[in-house]
Amino acid sequence: MAIKIAPSILSADFSEMGAAVKKLEKSGADMIHCDVMDGSFVQPITFGAQMVKSIRPFTGLPLDVHLMIEHPQTQIKFFADAGADIITVHYGACKKISESYLKDTLQLIKSYGVKCGAVVNPDVPVEEIFPVFPLCDMVLLMSVFPGYGGQKYIPSVTEKIKKARAFDRNIDIEIDGGVTEQNCAEIIAAGANVLVAGSTVFNSTDMALTIKRLRGI
Ligand code: DX5
Ligand code: ZN
Repeated sequence: MAIKIAPSILSADFSEMGAAVKKLEKSGADMIHCDVMDGSFVQPITFGAQMVKSIRPFTGLPLDVHLMIEHPQTQIKFFADAGADIITVHYGACKKISESYLKDTLQLIKSYGVKCGAVVNPDVPVEEIFPVFPLCDMVLLMSVFPGYGGQKYIPSVTEKIKKARAFDRNIDIEIDGGVTEQNCAEIIAAGANVLVAGSTVFNSTDMALTIKRLRGI
């Protein structure tokens, strides 16, 4: 499978977001990962659909919107209208509302013609989302606990990647948190094909080279 690199704008300069997104595209990124945090599901607040709408004209790359929010159904319309290409929602945020909330949310995202995905935290077995794999374009396995960039990759996630890839050979498997030039080969070998990287890309002095190296070439 082709490896896609999705730099997270969480590590960008928020006062220069349009320019940051342009630079990522020029440096060879495949998608732009947008970390939406609501101050409740996770402690920080980052940005909402308005940011997605604002950066949309600056790039032709797919906007990969990672919703770290409670009650995600209430926000889907706004992110779809803002120009999101894929929206991922947390299993944990959905499960506490009802058994069917995750499935219903994935279907709601699809109804807008937007791709969808389910996310599990590092301490949740990936088997929990196996039932919704057929509804998902991508699954996101968190390799840090969500909320902050710059954390260390949790090594036990590598086994979860292998399980997910054995279960579904075709689905996009995205890994988010602590991805570096040092561990990307292990992550790719386990079966992931979409790598989020925030601090690794934005701390680099040569973004294009770093993105290329993260692809494992
Ligand atoms: C964490 C976010 C990640 C994070 C990745 O809650 O979902 O996307 O920004 O940042 P790094 O690559 O620095 O771990
Ligand atoms: Zn993320």
